[in-house]
Amino acid sequence: MTDLVKVNVVVNGTRYERSVEPRLLLSDFIRHELGLTGTHVGCEHGVCGTCTVLFDGAAVRSCLIFAVQANNHEIRTVEGLGTIDHLHPLQEAFWEAHGAQCGYCTPGMLMTLVPFLEQNELPSEQEIREAIDGNLCRCTGYQHIVNAVKLASEKIAAKSS
Ligand code: FES
Ligand code: FES
Repeated sequence: MTDLVKVNVVVNGTRYERSVEPRLLLSDFIRHELGLTGTHVGCEHGVCGTCTVLFDGAAVRSCLIFAVQANNHEIRTVEGLGTIDHLHPLQEAFWEAHGAQCGYCTPGMLMTLVPFLEQNELPSEQEIREAIDGNLCRCTGYQHIVNAVKLASEKIAAKSS
């Protein structure tokens, strides 16, 4: 059996320590070791974007990273975005503009869009489409998603003005 390696990681503000196999993917660590199943897994080889989480604030594909690489780093998953009572503006906007259809791609979309909207106030439709061009939606409803991101950016701008 492979020797286990200690991982010490902060996820959504909570520190976790686990001993894991070095080959364990971060996506599987988040879902199976921590029980945070909001992070979805699609292709498991970096194509679909559904497993996207924030790694020290940057959007990354958690199926392309080993859990041990997250040692001493901070991860944020969709569970850390908002609560039922206090949704993140992106979650509110996806709800109001029907940006989620089956919802499978939604966590990855949201986590891709968090840093994008932090860096781009009131982005154009073209900029939004480019921001999510690595996130595949098999329900193919991209227009609703784009509308939701526009709405979210307006909500964020209104809050900060
Ligand atoms: S599951 Fe990670 S990119 Fe598809
Ligand atoms: S909403 Fe179904 S995969 Fe995107």
